[in-house]
Amino acid sequence: MDSTGSIWKATAEMGDYPPLEGGARADVCVVGAGIAGLTTAYLLQKEGKSVILLEAMGVGSGETGRTTAHFFPPDERYHILERKFGMARAAMIADSYRMATGLVESIVQEEGIDCNFMRVDGYLVPQVHNQIQSIEREYVVTQRLGVEVEMLERVPGLVFDTGRCLRFANNAQFHPLRYLDGLARAFVARGGVIHCNSRAVGIDKLSKEERTVRTLNGHVHAANVVLATHTPFNDTVVMHTKQAAYSTYVLGMRVPKDAIPPMLMWDDGDPYYYVRLAAIDEGPDDILIVGGQDHKTGQDEVPQHRWHEIEMWTRNRFPQAGEVVYRWSGEVMEPADGVAFLGNNPMDGDNVYIITGDSGNGMTHCTAGAMLVRDKILGRVNEWEEIYAPSRKPIHGVGDFAAEQINVVEQYADWVRGGEVETPAHIAPGEGALIRHGVTLYAVHRPVEGALQVLSAKCTHLGCAVHWNSAEKSWDCPCHGSRFSTTGEALHGPAVKPLQILSLPRD
Ligand code: FES
Repeated sequence: MDSTGSIWKATAEMGDYPPLEGGARADVCVVGAGIAGLTTAYLLQKEGKSVILLEAMGVGSGETGRTTAHFFPPDERYHILERKFGMARAAMIADSYRMATGLVESIVQEEGIDCNFMRVDGYLVPQVHNQIQSIEREYVVTQRLGVEVEMLERVPGLVFDTGRCLRFANNAQFHPLRYLDGLARAFVARGGVIHCNSRAVGIDKLSKEERTVRTLNGHVHAANVVLATHTPFNDTVVMHTKQAAYSTYVLGMRVPKDAIPPMLMWDDGDPYYYVRLAAIDEGPDDILIVGGQDHKTGQDEVPQHRWHEIEMWTRNRFPQAGEVVYRWSGEVMEPADGVAFLGNNPMDGDNVYIITGDSGNGMTHCTAGAMLVRDKILGRVNEWEEIYAPSRKPIHGVGDFAAEQINVVEQYADWVRGGEVETPAHIAPGEGALIRHGVTLYAVHRPVEGALQVLSAKCTHLGCAVHWNSAEKSWDCPCHGSRFSTTGEALHGPAVKPLQILSLPRD
């Protein structure tokens, strides 16, 4: 299988919405039509606000289309959250997870969205059989926090023995793009406006009370702006020192229907693996979805081996696993202290909000973020505000924070190294590499057919050198996770400007 693509994109038809042309005005301008942006837009429209939603590409074209769409407990274990933030705040986080999952369920029911939403149990298992000290610690703390959890000898219904594990009751899963499509239709039906192919490129302060969001073909004046773009593009530095971008890899493999019980499972290893099942329509098979093998974005140029590792891990545990029919990768933003950033953008005053730092729990964090931002804009008290505040200092993750900053600084050394190849003749068809001429680093892609595509390797965010990603055929920035197509278009922020198109000098 050469191409990549998520099961969700292959099995959903998304509505299309016209681009923004000229000027418009609304109470709220939301940027990004993933789960964070659409949930925020939907909730505020329902409260009587006028909302315009801008999307650079199409609804769900970003990370929501690349997730595995599970609702399970925080990626950062509760016993670590309690140690860092105290019992009351850890309980608050647990509460926000429970309420976010409940909100999605209630929206699905109220709007009649056909997205296979189902409540499932989630199992935390040891990666090394019966090495369960951290699982035992988690058990003690989750009970103290009032999370619905029990310790089992093994995950029931599986062929392999997982070892002692925790069962978290009442977690959930769904088809994320069918959910987004339903949410978009419900939002528009209530009077909301969506503009696709309308990339926001800047936010200006019009007055204390009003902002202008600029796109290439128009602008929106709004009293409040919500940046729901996975990582914020308007904040050049501050937020990008508080979180790091990681790539994660996913396979979808056929399994006979009902051979594996519906459930979520994840282990405590490093790298770790996560598992869910998807039943797509009336086909004869279920799809076993297994992900993991995370690494810092832009820091593995030939990451295909990670899909191989996932396949081996899966076949060793699930002998029912058959053909690999989907493979894809996504990006997660890892906050230094393990807790998402939901609320006012620190650099922008009172009326610009961000939802970022998903930490592999995007469905839950984005929904909780939408609830919190809705309350902030409506002037309601929300007790989650302090724990999720983007302005908080990373005092509870200082070690991780420092290590990530050192890693970023090291990436700038690419500018004094040689290129990866001497000439384009050394680049295999379909691949890309960096070529140096003098002080310029060229990002050169040789298509299977057609002319070379030559770009500046200088990331348009803060100038790191992008690296080739052979698995996704993109240029990825190792500093803060921006990604670009082979023609230079920004695929993932914080960069919004394309890579500069150049020509190689003649020798
Ligand atoms: Fe920040 Fe590239 S993403 S320099």
